[in-house]
Amino acid sequence: MGIGEAFARELGARGHNLVLVARSGERLHTLAEALRKERGIRVEVCVVDLSYVDAPVAVYEFCSQLHIKVDFLVNCAGLSRAGYFDDILPGKLEEIMMVNMMAMAKLTRLFASDMVARRQGNIINIASLGGLQGVPGLAIYSASKAFVITLAEALYIELKSKGINVVVVCPGFIDTGFFEHAGHNAAKIRLPLSGTDVVVKAAITGLAKKKIRVFPTLLDVILVFLQRLVTRKTVVRLAGFFSAVHDD
Ligand SMILES: NC(=O)c1ccc[n+]([C@@H]2O[C@H](COP(=O)([O-])OP(=O)(O)OC[C@H]3O[C@@H](n4cnc5c(N)ncnc54)[C@H](OP(=O)(O)O)[C@@H]3O)[C@@H](O)[C@H]2O)c1
Repeated sequence: MGIGEAFARELGARGHNLVLVARSGERLHTLAEALRKERGIRVEVCVVDLSYVDAPVAVYEFCSQLHIKVDFLVNCAGLSRAGYFDDILPGKLEEIMMVNMMAMAKLTRLFASDMVARRQGNIINIASLGGLQGVPGLAIYSASKAFVITLAEALYIELKSKGINVVVVCPGFIDTGFFEHAGHNAAKIRLPLSGTDVVVKAAITGLAKKKIRVFPTLLDVILVFLQRLVTRKTVVRLAGFFSAVHDD
């Protein structure tokens, strides 16, 4: 769903065969069937919970068993939980870290080896503007996205000479079910929400232009630039204010 579905639709429209990965099997099968009919492409469905330690290997083995070579890896699955760090259940912290960081890193590691052997491949990692500084009210989420950004930046350089393109996308506020899923009222967010299409377009253009890091909207670019003009404390306070997780 959300940004992942938008990637599936755009890559499907470009004629790529797809492997869709998430927990919601019924939703994945419905999307897969629609894409097969609309685009005449092969679409496989891999239902896994990426918060489990062995899930990335299960995705990799799923593809290997079907003799699928992955040319584009889109690491998009992710979650958050709005609230003060000391209120969030430890299990939720672990789930966020497992999906946003561990699964993303392991999937990248597994599929990157095959891409290196073929000397071609593309890896898109979905981070967040939230990963550029701590966000009060979204502490573990912002920390997990900082991990996504720094890992992808290092891999951009490491894998470039091996024929692999890596780009990390840092969206701001995108209109999906993400905020509701995080227990976060999207209506309270103090900045406008953009459509999922801007994320997909930024990622694909970023890959084509061999960018290391991309920001999907002009507003995102302005917010990043403004960070240079104020103190770090102000940057962090403003990130919390714009996200509006808390009223204080
Ligand atoms: N929306 C925004 O404003 C925004 C801004 C910046 C960055 N992002 C990032 O963009 C990415 C996509 O977010 P979205 O806005 O599309 O949110 P979304 O609508 O909530 O979609 C999240 C996706 O991740 C999958 N997912 C979550 N937990 C999973 C798990 N344990 N195992 C497998 N799949 C799992 C979900 O599928 P199932 O529930 O079926 O498993 C769903 O497809 C995330 O990494 C998010 O951090 C979003």
